[in-house]
Amino acid sequence: MSLETLERDILKEVAAAHDEAALEALRVSALGKKGSISERMKSLGSMAPDERKQAGAALNLLKDKVAGAIAERKSALQEAALEQRLASEKVDVTLPVRSQPQGTIHPVSQVWEEIVQIWGDLGFSVAEGPHIEDDFHNFTALNMPPEHPARQEHDTFYFNEKPDGSRMVLRTHTSPVQIRTMLSEKPPIRIIVPGRTFRCDSDQTHTPMFHQIEGLVIDENTHLGHLKWALTEFCKAFFEVDEPKMRFRASHFPFTEPSMEVDINCSWEGGQVKIGTGDSWLEILGSGMVHPNVIRHGGLDPEKYQGWAFGMGLDRIAMLKYGIPDLRAFFEADLRWLKHYGFRALQVPTLAGGLS
Ligand code: PHE
Repeated sequence: MSLETLERDILKEVAAAHDEAALEALRVSALGKKGSISERMKSLGSMAPDERKQAGAALNLLKDKVAGAIAERKSALQEAALEQRLASEKVDVTLPVRSQPQGTIHPVSQVWEEIVQIWGDLGFSVAEGPHIEDDFHNFTALNMPPEHPARQEHDTFYFNEKPDGSRMVLRTHTSPVQIRTMLSEKPPIRIIVPGRTFRCDSDQTHTPMFHQIEGLVIDENTHLGHLKWALTEFCKAFFEVDEPKMRFRASHFPFTEPSMEVDINCSWEGGQVKIGTGDSWLEILGSGMVHPNVIRHGGLDPEKYQGWAFGMGLDRIAMLKYGIPDLRAFFEADLRWLKHYGFRALQVPTLAGGLS
């Protein structure tokens, strides 16, 4: 085979090589130890000097040409591979954004967060306590000794008796956290306690598990005026009304003295309740000055410290604010209900940005 034919064949194959592996195989078959060009190099030794000089130069030229062609082809293949990768990994930044997430925030979570925002702005921090309480924190320390009639009103879930005869309970209100906080923190105390509570009761306005928000202030000089002002401010912010009418109605709780239930004015239009206008009243919470016995059970001196407390049903005020009719639906996890009454995810309530 003439050198020209060999050159033409090799260069044709190099041009046709479709990947780097094929190219490497070609390099070995031409320039490798036993390659076609290398073999011809070996035959130079048996040639006459003149002939060898000529043939050697021609072979060297061919060798360089082939090596150059392979290198060129190699970089062309690498460039093509890069182009292909860039094309396949291309992101079209002009595409429209994905549609809104399907999930919604449950009204309980929304209202919980709204309330934390409002009281946080008034200088209150969030405290927590266990769902499973002992008798002391849930009742006795709150001025409800054993056999106290108020215990009957709570429809308590009791656990089995322990060897010592005591029984744990599912907390019937968030008030035990008053005691826990007084025992663990130094006044001045300003806390709210959002959390789950449990009573053995179920109808359109009661579920065995529900949510309360407790509030507690303990200080040396705080008084009933502060309670009235703070609760009025809370109602303005929460119900988003400028001039609600508030009624502080004498009532009774064992752990406060005096005790007041708080009503807010409202109107009923077409079966829908509107808060902050009209001449009807709606009860929204219980409150009062902390009973000296409770302060004493909290490890503080009632001669030095006094305070006020309130407790409200979180689910109940969520129903009032957002016009949700049936409490039981809150906890049925019905997606249609959640889509209707739920709130947009990532739309966190703040006082500055709007609560609802
Ligand atoms: N713990 C009371 C209840 O569950 C509410 C309350 C709390 C009343 C604090 C007064 C003060 O009904």
